[in-house]
Amino acid sequence: MLTVMASPYPPADGDRPRIILDCDPGHDDVIAIVVAAEHTDLVGITTVAGNAPLARTTHNACMMRDVLALECGVHAGAERPLVAPPKFAGFVHGESGLDGAELPNPRTGPDSIDAVAFLVESCRRDEGLWLVPTGPLTNIALALRAAPDLAGRIAGISLMGGGTFGNRRPLAEFNIWADPEAAAIVFGCGAPIVMAGLDVTHQFIVTRSRIDEVAAMGTPFTDLIGDLFEFFSGNYIARHDGIEGAALHDPLAVMALTHPALFDGTDRHVAIETTGEHTAGMTVIDRRLISDREAPNAHVLEHVDADAAWRVVGAALRAAGARAVM
Ligand code: BDR
Ligand code: CA
Repeated sequence: MLTVMASPYPPADGDRPRIILDCDPGHDDVIAIVVAAEHTDLVGITTVAGNAPLARTTHNACMMRDVLALECGVHAGAERPLVAPPKFAGFVHGESGLDGAELPNPRTGPDSIDAVAFLVESCRRDEGLWLVPTGPLTNIALALRAAPDLAGRIAGISLMGGGTFGNRRPLAEFNIWADPEAAAIVFGCGAPIVMAGLDVTHQFIVTRSRIDEVAAMGTPFTDLIGDLFEFFSGNYIARHDGIEGAALHDPLAVMALTHPALFDGTDRHVAIETTGEHTAGMTVIDRRLISDREAPNAHVLEHVDADAAWRVVGAALRAAGARAVM
């Protein structure tokens, strides 16, 4: 029987959450790093295979850490999902994970190649951390499996994944679909979960005018981000009917903690479909009104004030542009 902890969500106004960002950069993961650098105490960055193979997502995370002169470590994690074969997203992000811009090389490598140990040690040493996964949930599941006590030591998990519709499959979003067994462990762990799924991230689009705004910021770093946005949005427009640009998914998992007033959501029970010819990787969100439905295990975000969220991203990009070391 799952015991759901009293949810600390939303964090109190003005709280600067201490977070570990677990990511697979990825164009939108990069923006999650930018927002986290500006609005959180970033305890560490862990990397996972997802949008690209692990060596590449780690390379990209180290590059961002160096460019933004972040003081936190980068720790490389799982090279493959728990059970499923590795699946990447070159069709969205390009083979490098960050196609579309001339990227500087990182000046330093990862601080360790054991993200799981870093997660376990950090969460035991420093109670009340938020874990913010923006890629497949492999590292988080491995940490919870190695140390089930973590579920009671962290403030919660604010993740990008899932939704009432899919992108990689009709009902499966990429991060959950890439490692459904890991997602099942995470959603069953008993820690408070905040879920930024496609329902909310598809309200937050990198439109032409938003790209132009970034391009006009006039720093080498924001030029680089503008080039990444051109590729990312161009790719979404080419691959979708009737979309104005890329959905900027991942920073919303950070902003759900740093700017909770921008979101509406509902506590729901979310189960993960791990098998099913058409449904593996689906987040089964219980929206029934019937009163004997299962108790909620997640706060599912449903609406974001996209213009206000974009102002947060824009300001974070300007601040990053002013201090970036390129
Ligand atoms: C998620 O998949 C990746 O392509 C993005 O970085 C995001 O985390 C969206 O489905
Ligand atoms: Ca991602």
